[in-house]
Parts: sequence; C-alpha cells; structure tokens
Amino acid sequence: MLCLGVESTAHTFGIGVVDETGKILANVIKPYTTDTGGIIPGKAADHHVELCDVTLREALAEAGVSIRDVGLISFSRGPGIGNCLKVGAFTARSLALRHGIPVVGVNHCIAHLEIGRLLTDASDPVLLYVSGANTQVISFESGRYRIFGETLDIGVGNLLDVFARHVGLGFPGGPRIEEMARKSSNYVELPYVIKGMDVSFGGLLTNIQRKHNAGLSTEDLCFSLQETVFAMLLEVSERALAHCGKDELLLGGGVACNRRLQEMARVMCEGRGAKMFVPDDRKVLVDNGAMIAWLGILEKARAKLGVADTGILPYWRTDQVEPNRNSS
Ligand code: ATP
Ligand code: FE2
Repeated sequence: MLCLGVESTAHTFGIGVVDETGKILANVIKPYTTDTGGIIPGKAADHHVELCDVTLREALAEAGVSIRDVGLISFSRGPGIGNCLKVGAFTARSLALRHGIPVVGVNHCIAHLEIGRLLTDASDPVLLYVSGANTQVISFESGRYRIFGETLDIGVGNLLDVFARHVGLGFPGGPRIEEMARKSSNYVELPYVIKGMDVSFGGLLTNIQRKHNAGLSTEDLCFSLQETVFAMLLEVSERALAHCGKDELLLGGGVACNRRLQEMARVMCEGRGAKMFVPDDRKVLVDNGAMIAWLGILEKARAKLGVADTGILPYWRTDQVEPNRNSS
C-alpha cells in the first residue's frame, strides 16, 4: 500500500510517496522564499495554492505511480501557520474525496522523529528537533511522545536567520552562518540562557545584534553564536538522555544539517556512551512530504473515508497526540 503525504506547515509545500516498508518513492519539496527570509502567512499560503497541483504531478511522476495506486493520504494537521496548513488539508481532503481514499491528519513534529527512526539505526531515541520555528527535545516515554525541553521564545533557525539578515548574509541564514563561523575560532562571550529544561534565544539575539552594531567581527560572532546555542541545545538534550535513561540522540529539522552541531552532538554522545544519529539526506531533515507519508503509514489505523477529523490544529502540541505506538 502506498501513502501520499502532504506537508504545508510553514514555508514548504511538499508531497511524498512512501510504501508500507518505508521505501521513499518520491519526496518533492517546494520552498517559499523571499530575499529577506521573512514569511508573510498569506503569501506563503498563496505559494502553496499555486504549486499544489504541479507538486502532486511531480511526486506521482517521481514515484512512477498514478493516484489510483495510492491507498492512503496523510497530511500535516499541525502545528503550524493556519493559512498554510489549510492548503495542505484542502489538498488532502480533495484528493481523498475525489478518489475515495482514506485520509489521516498527523503531527508534524512527530513526523520528524519517526522519519529519523526509519532512516537511521536509532530505535528509541531522544530527538533534538531544530528548525526555523521549532526547537524541541522530544522522546517517546511511558506511552506518549513527551517534550523534555523547548524554546521559550523563537526557534533556533529563526534566531540564525534573523541574525544573518541583520549582518547582511541573506536567507536562509543557517548555512551562511555556518560558512562564516569556519573562518574564526575567537569566542566572544554571549548570553547562555537555560531555564529548567528550556532554552531562550530572545536576549541572546538582542545582545549579539548590539555587539555587531558596535563593530565586532561577523566571523567571530557567527562562530560564537553557533558554539553558544548548540551547547545550550546539547545540554538540554544530554539531560533528557540522562532523565530517560536512553542512549540514542537523533537530530532532525533544517538546523540539523549543520556540521558543527552534528560534531558537537557526536562528542557529547561519545562522552556518555551514547550514539548520535542524523539522516544523510537533507531533504528528510527539512520539512517534507515523505515524513508525513511515513507517519501516515504508522497511523493508518486512524484513517477514515470522508473528511471527519481533518480540521487543522495550528497549536497542536507533541504531548497532546494520542499515539498509535505502544512501545519503542
Ligand atoms: P518548521 O519550523 O515549521 O519545521 P521551517 O521551514 O522553518 O519549518 P526547516 O525547513 O526544517 O524549517 O529548516 C529551515 C531552517 O534551517 C532555517 O532556519 C535555516 O536557516 C536552517 N538551516 C538550514 N541549513 C542550516 C545549516 N547548515 N546550519 C544551520 N541552520 C540551517
Ligand atoms: Fe519541521
């Protein structure tokens, strides 16, 4: 059975096709970008509306199948930007109704965790999910997906993007900051803010912008920014590993593409006898339809004919999801 998954929580409209064994037959990603990287929800939604049809055609062609071969449709119900989520939900519902295919809405954050489990040797990991809008440390524990730590304000990708824009590096900021950071090893002290198990980046952003305005070098600041925020994220991840008694750390989300984050995560894991996992393919780390399709397969028992339970849930939290999974 094939599942077609639709992703549209934020910048990216994506459609993936995955079979029941987890083979990814297609994963077409259409990101909405602007020069400044800012996102206007209505404009991003317009982008998704414009491209939903071509994305579908490209995904089916890439998979070498027709919509009649698809036995299940899944889509991101949330969390995300309402205007954007509606386009994915509408696409999924229309296909389901038109072709009489069962449909299931799934949680975007959990999809990042489950695609990582599918594509790496991690079996019961703690996930460090780091993207533009989201920063969460998640794991499946005592029958639920639980959040062990998260950002209290902006996501780490957002922090990198805003700082990159401030210093004129353009969008997306993460890869440009990574490049600049390689040119320095001069650490400038920045606020390191962890409250309980949560992190906060707002004060750090103001502080680093001021330091840049005062003339400190962009290379030094990029290097220091990476060292500081990745250390914060890994401190919380390490505490989650210790708390859960787990020995696998999985990275997910666009920021997980960062080599320095991967290296720091590997060093932390080695230090405590744990293993670090990150899927090789950048396309499964960023927002994508294949991860939604795979979670659809895992959640297929919930799929229904018709459109009941296909409303969007923009504020759906990872720990509110009733899991279909009862063990690791
Ligand atoms: P969401 O938050 O809803 O999951 P998103 O579209 O913001 O969605 P992703 O597509 O997962 O998130 O990732 C985009 C983010 O990843 C951007 O903030 C970008 O700067 C960051 N990013 C991409 N590559 C790198 C890198 N090499 N280093 C650091 N950050 C990176
Ligand atoms: Fe995401």
